[in-house]
Amino acid sequence: MNKTIKVAIDGPSSSGKSTIAKLIAKHYKFTYIDSGSIYRAITYIALENKLINKSFVNSSVLIEILKKTSIDFSFNKKNQNTISVDGTELENKIRTSEISSLVSFIAEKNEIREYVVKIQKRISKNKSVVMDGRDIGSVVFPNADVKFYVDASLLTRSKRRWIELSKTEQDLSLEVVKNDLLKRDTNDTNREFSPLVKPINSITISTDNLSIGEVLDKMIKIIDQKLKIK
Ligand code: CDP
Repeated sequence: MNKTIKVAIDGPSSSGKSTIAKLIAKHYKFTYIDSGSIYRAITYIALENKLINKSFVNSSVLIEILKKTSIDFSFNKKNQNTISVDGTELENKIRTSEISSLVSFIAEKNEIREYVVKIQKRISKNKSVVMDGRDIGSVVFPNADVKFYVDASLLTRSKRRWIELSKTEQDLSLEVVKNDLLKRDTNDTNREFSPLVKPINSITISTDNLSIGEVLDKMIKIIDQKLKIK
């Protein structure tokens, strides 16, 4: 395959997009890029520098810090393509409920989004990638070869996220997780710049009543068909 392929996967929190994106990348030997981890890493940097709380983001100072910061992806010991900031792998530190509750305030800032889109394009250059996020098929790769919108009900998504977070945050209730997802969905969908939308020409996959294997089969069939047609 000479031409590089872009597979864009958008959808709300915990719809199953990252699990499926990783499996699709593995199947086709493409690179998986988790674009949400860039927004999470920036939220981490903002917290470390005391530039964010629930009502305020000092984005002008944050942007100055980001200009001097190197955000990159590299393969770790488990062969996962994970984010690092100035050479330090951040994966475990960016999945906390604190970061989750603040990240959409970072993601709504246009100047930060422009900075992130540059990173997304740089790390995808000359590569076949599967990238997941909120604006991949609409803004980052509007001409992606295949675009998916992966969805599930709020309750299904909350249960998934709660099971995941309960491993490290035992006191967390399902209700708190559900409220956080709802708030994030509302912010992500209603923000002014690059809101979460079903991209034009995207195929919607509802994962409520499907196993991971079933979702994967369905999406692989669609990708195979699309790539043959091209
Ligand atoms: O893991 P989860 O699906 O909850 O979220 P994520 O993919 O890690 O993304 C975290 C947050 O980053 C989202 O709630 C969005 O606010 C923001 N984001 C975005 O605005 N655009 C993207 N392409 C990816 C994430």
